[in-house]
Amino acid sequence: MNPPGPSRPPAIFVTARLAARPPCADDAEAVFASYASDPEVTRYLSWRAYVRVQPLAVFLQECAARWEKGFGPFTWLLCLKGTTAPIGSVGLTIEGGRAMLGYVLAKKFWRHGFATEALTPLVAWSIAQPQIWRVWAFCDVENPASIRVMEKAGLVREAVLRRWQVCPTLGPEPRDCIICAKVK
Ligand SMILES: CC(C)(COP(=O)(O)OP(=O)(O)OC[C@H]1O[C@@H](n2cnc3c(N)ncnc32)[C@H](O)[C@@H]1OP(=O)(O)O)[C@@H](O)C(=O)NCCC(=O)NCCS
Repeated sequence: MNPPGPSRPPAIFVTARLAARPPCADDAEAVFASYASDPEVTRYLSWRAYVRVQPLAVFLQECAARWEKGFGPFTWLLCLKGTTAPIGSVGLTIEGGRAMLGYVLAKKFWRHGFATEALTPLVAWSIAQPQIWRVWAFCDVENPASIRVMEKAGLVREAVLRRWQVCPTLGPEPRDCIICAKVK
């Protein structure tokens, strides 16, 4: 039975080039090798690159459990269609009429439009839900690729959130971020 509140997003979805599915603990080694251990990838993220596989397995298991409970935050792993190796991840956190997006890709897959391709159906799904009025994301002011992805996914730049997020790869101080949203 579905929980009350906004419906649960599709656990599996496909785009022209990508297949998205929930993670499981067994994905840890592949996710570690693909992007989660790369400090260049985590540079502007709220988490530091993993140095061991085991804590990542714990995190992925938690992601899987959240799908089972149905309340999110919801995390998908992205694979190129027809392959099984994860190339990145997208996430959706639904709270109080708002849906927040997150996204990360392995470096060798940057600049091919994959992040935009993965986020576009999630934006469409979110805004189509009667209980969701706002789809939003934020990123570091110094992360132009991410700003561009938000725009290409149909979100509109709203403001700078000063001292909003700590990026532990860069240091302990919260950094300024740009917030973008699509509303109805
Ligand atoms: C941000 C990220 C997900 C983008 O993924 P991607 O698949 O390369 O994104 P897309 O190819 O869909 O779009 C990237 C856009 O940014 C542009 N771009 C990339 N690097 C750029 C740079 N240094 N300066 C300006 N624009 C840049 C690209 O040209 C493209 O825009 P265009 O299609 O108009 O040419 C990827 O770089 C990543 O995983 N980074 C590390 C994790 C991260 O920062 N996640 C975001 C957290 S908020």
